[in-house]
Amino acid sequence: MSEVEGETLLVSNSQQDGPHLKWSAYAPKYDAICAYNPAYQENLERLKDYLRTWELSEDARIADLGAGTGNFICAMSDVLPHASYTHIDFDPGMNTVARSKYDQLKSIEVNVIQEYLQRVSIPDESFDLIVCVNVLYAVAPQGLFLSRARRWLKPEGRFFIIDFGRKVKIFDWGWYFLKSTIRKHSFGHFVRVLVDNYEFVRQNKNAQHDFEMGYFWEHSTEEFRELLTSTGFSVEELYTCYRGYCDLAICR
Ligand SMILES: C[S@@+](CC[C@H](N)C(=O)[O-])C[C@H]1O[C@@H](n2cnc3c(N)ncnc32)[C@H](O)[C@@H]1O
Repeated sequence: MSEVEGETLLVSNSQQDGPHLKWSAYAPKYDAICAYNPAYQENLERLKDYLRTWELSEDARIADLGAGTGNFICAMSDVLPHASYTHIDFDPGMNTVARSKYDQLKSIEVNVIQEYLQRVSIPDESFDLIVCVNVLYAVAPQGLFLSRARRWLKPEGRFFIIDFGRKVKIFDWGWYFLKSTIRKHSFGHFVRVLVDNYEFVRQNKNAQHDFEMGYFWEHSTEEFRELLTSTGFSVEELYTCYRGYCDLAICR
């Protein structure tokens, strides 16, 4: 538990009887699986397309909340190489993978902050853009976290959020990975990827449990909109993506 602004926050992953998903066990396998997931690659491209249309300055200040292995910051740096990036994530395993990618890119400036989003201390009006992809469901209480994130945005700033809000259907995803992998490779290749990355499957089963137990927030698109609006965001665009499992919103 952590005290922030007079409210007791549930820092969920530190609870003994809390979520079963272990992000650090996920970390070494995360990118291997993302590479075989066209829906994940579509989200990266989607954000890059938005970046090309938004008039952000070359030296914009951009935060990625729950930045994981750094894929979204690396993608954004293709479009805005001189922006100043802040990566926030509590998991050391995820951050280690991200740091090694940022080091390879050399030219980008990234400040990696290893902390819970519920208790990280960020001055108000720090960022021109905040990105938050597939993290909100795990950051309880969601409303308080979103209110804090909104204050970190500059008055004209944008919030790009994607959130996984539906039940995890392991067989549906397995079938999807099988089809998309054998389209480019072979069935044998799929089996090898599956065996090498079985920990990823185990952690997804844990995520399925965490949604069922209510540790993770399952939501409809309308519930997602209501939460964003009630925490002070003005929603400019809202639609589902990621094979219908995620909601995407662009907010001011
Ligand atoms: C599904 S991954 C998404 C990573 C990245 N945004 C992406 O889409 O590739 C969720 C990330 O959120 C981080 N995370 C979960 N709960 C968190 C919390 N309370 N505070 C900070 N980071 C958290 C995890 O460590 C993990 O890296």
